[in-house]
Order: sequence, then C-alpha cells, then structure tokens
Amino acid sequence: MIELNHSPTQVVKWSLAEQKSVNVDIKRDDLLHPVISGNKWRKLKYLISDAQEKGCSELISMGGNWSNHLHALAYVGKALNLRTRGFVRAHPNQAITPTLEDCQRWGMRLQFCSRQEYAALRQDNHWSRFSEQSPDSYWLSEGGFGQLAIRGVEDIAQEVDEHYDYIFVGCGSGATLCGLSKTFNHSHVVGVAAFSGADYLQESLGKHIGPRDSNWSLDTQHHCGGFAKRNADLDEVISSLELTNSFKLDPVYNGKTFLALQSWLALGKIPSGSKVLVIHTGGLQGTRSP
Ligand SMILES: Cc1ncc(COP(=O)(O)O)c(C=O)c1O
Repeated sequence: MIELNHSPTQVVKWSLAEQKSVNVDIKRDDLLHPVISGNKWRKLKYLISDAQEKGCSELISMGGNWSNHLHALAYVGKALNLRTRGFVRAHPNQAITPTLEDCQRWGMRLQFCSRQEYAALRQDNHWSRFSEQSPDSYWLSEGGFGQLAIRGVEDIAQEVDEHYDYIFVGCGSGATLCGLSKTFNHSHVVGVAAFSGADYLQESLGKHIGPRDSNWSLDTQHHCGGFAKRNADLDEVISSLELTNSFKLDPVYNGKTFLALQSWLALGKIPSGSKVLVIHTGGLQGTRSP
C-alpha cells in the first residue's frame, strides 16, 4: 500500500483578494507526492484497494496523451507490481509526450485509439463487454470517475479544520467536485470546468450530489476556449500569482480555477469577510515541453 502524508494549507498572497477583504487559502495537494500528486491519489486509492481485493492483476483506463490520470496510474501499477494498460486518444505517429514516455517507462501498455474508438470506450456497455474478455482486469473509467473515487476525495475533510465559505476546484470528470461537495456540507463548492460545453455535468453530477446550488455550482465560463486552451488572461493570472507565491500552477486546471476565482472576486460575487479554499489538484507534470 502507498501511504501519503497530509498536504499543507497556505495563505495565497493576492492583492485582489486583499482589496476585497477575502481570505484565500490553498490546499497544496500538489505536494502530496512527486508523481501521484493532487487529486490523483485521493481518487485512486480506494479503486486500487478494490482491484487488489478482487484479485485483479491489470489496471486499465483511458486518457489523452498528457493525461495526469494515466501518468499516476502507470506509476501506481509499477509501485504495487500490477500490470497497467492505457487507451490513449491519439495517433501513434504523433510525437510521444513526456507523459506517455513516463507511462511506458513504468511499464504501462499503451493502446492508441481514434476519437470514435475513444468515444465508444466511454460507454459503460463497451467496458463490460471488454472486461468479460479480460476477467483479471480492473477498469477505471475516464478520470477515475466513480463512487470509490468520490469517497477518496471525501477524506480530504479530515485534513481541514477551519470553516471555508467557498471551495474552488478544477473540474474534468467532476469526481473531485462531488467528493468535496459531499464532505464540506457547510461550504459552497465551485467546480471550474476545464473544457467547453460542460453544462451537461450539471445534470449528471446532480445525480451523485443533489441539485446544483444546494452547496455546489459549476463555473463553465473560464475554459479559455476549450480543454488545454489558454489565453492572455489565463497566462496573466498564473504569472502574477506565481510571482507572489511559492506554488506553480498548471494552465489546464489550476490556472483556470484561479482565473474563475479572480472573476468572482472582481464581480463582488464573494462577500467581503469570506474565507475561500482553493484545492491545488496538481497536474504540473503536464507542463513539461514535448
Ligand atoms: C490536475 C487535475 N486537476 C483537476 C482534475 C479534475 O478532476 P475531476 O476529473 O475529478 O473533475 C484533473 C483530472 O482528473 C486533473 O488532472
């Protein structure tokens, strides 16, 4: 079993927050581990225990060619001596990224697939047909989404003693948002969608955590044009925060989370005197040059 320490919470030095009399803290889950950092271990730990209890010897999942999820899974597989396989939404002739290089080095078998094949893999019925063919395999859906991942995220509350009025976090599959909203009942959790067209998540996540606005909402306005897209506003907020703080921010998730928070602060959507916690979900491996 892999055991990780608690991550520290730090004050974010940010002139905008000071002007608005809002306290912003950051939970440095990026410091949890050099590889399985951020929300990765939180989402993976119960899934991996479940796979081990079921006697599965191969972990299989899917992701893009910069996937933090596949990267962490490959590392966990190597550390726990489990085989891993990753379906990658990319053409094999595309330059292999540092992420995929690491995955291969840690023994993950990569299977490249087209957009259509990838879309089919997202369907539950496709997964179950596949697992019939490989009975000792354990499937993790995209981003690790599922009840066990959500439960792993809920454990974060054991490390947070203070009350926060708002919690901001990057959102992909929504598992992290679900776990936070389930455990921080008295906070309002804002998931910042990293990709465009994320409105469908309002309904699908609602099935896990109750209707939007109960204690959570989704900010779908700060994706900067789509997944892994960036713009000058995003670059600006990242560089100004990195200048005054000791953390680094990836532009795919955490940079966008702060961009959204900046806009909420500027628009006065967060009352003065509020306390805000941002969860740093890691992802810095994806900032390496190809
Ligand atoms: C660094 C990082 N932050 C945030 C997220 C979003 O997490 P979730 O898929 O649980 O919404 C991901 C994706 O897993 C991620 O890699």
